[in-house]
Amino acid sequence: QLIRHYNFDITLQKLTRLCQTKSIVTVNGQFPGPRIIAREGDRLVIKVTNHVQNNITIHWHGVRQMRSGWADGPAYITQCPIQSGQSYIYNFTVSGQRGTLWWHAHTSWLRATLHGPIIILPKKHAPYPQPFKEETLIFGEWWKADTEAVINQAMKTGSAPNLSDAYTINGLPGPLYNCSSTDTFKLNVEPGQTYLLRLINAALNNELFFSIANHTLSVVETDAVYIKPFKTNVVLITPGQTMNVLLKTNPNPPNATFLIAARPYASGPATFDNTTTAGFLHYKTPNPNNLNNNKKLPLLKPSLPNFNDTAFSMNFNQKIRSLANSKFPAKVPKTVDKHLFFTVGLGIIQCSKNQKCQGPNNTRVAASINNVSFVQPNTALLQAHFFNKSQGVYTTDFPTNPPFKFNYTGAPPNNIVVKTGTKVMILPYNTSVEVVLQDTSIIGAESHPLHLHGFNFFVVGQGFGNFDSKKDPLKFNVVDPAERNTVGVPSGGWVALRFLADNPGVWFMHCHLEVHTSWGLKMAWIVQDGKAHHQKLPPPPSDLPKC
Ligand code: C2O
Repeated sequence: QLIRHYNFDITLQKLTRLCQTKSIVTVNGQFPGPRIIAREGDRLVIKVTNHVQNNITIHWHGVRQMRSGWADGPAYITQCPIQSGQSYIYNFTVSGQRGTLWWHAHTSWLRATLHGPIIILPKKHAPYPQPFKEETLIFGEWWKADTEAVINQAMKTGSAPNLSDAYTINGLPGPLYNCSSTDTFKLNVEPGQTYLLRLINAALNNELFFSIANHTLSVVETDAVYIKPFKTNVVLITPGQTMNVLLKTNPNPPNATFLIAARPYASGPATFDNTTTAGFLHYKTPNPNNLNNNKKLPLLKPSLPNFNDTAFSMNFNQKIRSLANSKFPAKVPKTVDKHLFFTVGLGIIQCSKNQKCQGPNNTRVAASINNVSFVQPNTALLQAHFFNKSQGVYTTDFPTNPPFKFNYTGAPPNNIVVKTGTKVMILPYNTSVEVVLQDTSIIGAESHPLHLHGFNFFVVGQGFGNFDSKKDPLKFNVVDPAERNTVGVPSGGWVALRFLADNPGVWFMHCHLEVHTSWGLKMAWIVQDGKAHHQKLPPPPSDLPKC
């Protein structure tokens, strides 16, 4: 087994965007952060050393972490944070996956600037069409203010956090923002070639449409799983998701600059920033007649769906199908041991007496799963579980259904106050789980990109309205459903997932809209050890941080 070593030094770095300079938390001074590259089957040994004042953890988003849960990274779930001056070595193997994933900080909102790509190459000699060239595009969100101050202020008052000032491609807002034309992503291509674009949505709070003027994209992989290729002019990518697309360049390009653009799909009631981040696609061999005229090339713009085009979203997601062939079978659980029904959405919470919250009767917005808004513990759940010290840390009564039935996508119920707790759901080893995630319109319907750590799940069904437990399962796709780690629960609808609990440990599940995570739209699963040695989680590494 090949071992690849990386050093991640967490340091502050001054950076100017939109004519304003601020200090950001980075890995090795880079923004976006360095890319991790490995081949399927390799071991990664990444030493993270914290030189800043903030508590840090790093999560390897989408890496399955088979029996290596100590390296997964979400703060207070699998580990205590790495404190200032301390370090921790993340040590794990990447296997059974190939393609694009990413890493990001998993404490508070630090992932705004602490993120980067993970590229897993297929095994040597595996059949793999070589693209002419490849490029990684990470979408992000930029605040002029310090993002920790933004979320801390919001949590203190219960008001919505301030909106970001720009979306970015590889950290660059692009020419459509004031003071930003030099900070523009550029893609120089040659005619008649195939480029692989690795797309990563690292934005904090926004799903994004992405398109390149006059070019068709072929989607070939999502969340490091090959899919049946399909062509589209626009892709939709939620925070947390990754997507490989092929770009075939024009063999005979017109003399033009092609705009690359991304802007939000926003289905919810909250205000959002409907601006566009853009870059330029240029052809390297311009028409000789035009050589001196480069600056005056006409700019062609892509057309992106309306910000609230939920029909596009449903349609796009339904096109994503596993390859499901003999080389890459879709291992969909055919039977189900545990049926779960989780409502996801917003509600309100009573603030404590010494807080001044902005809602009626000193309340604030909260977010919940089955009416439980998750409270972050003071110590890591995985340690508490492993050493049998759950008392005072978590309870195992996470509800299998919402506390009461109502018209989830209709008028809100009388009581919209949610409960709080650090509740987990226990799964015996190898339980086959089906969980239906039902969006609620209590404060307003909204798409929630739900992310599950430690597993890929199969998206066996999705639809609008309330899930019908009699009729809808008859239409489930157990042949070639999408296999993902993050899925958008349709706005005003539901999605049904299946996964096999074959990975012992504690696994976080949360909305990847960071503001919803902050508000409590999260929970954890505990998958118990199996009987055999290779079905058990090994003990923690000796340098595991202490709380
Ligand atoms: Cu991409 Cu829990 O994270």
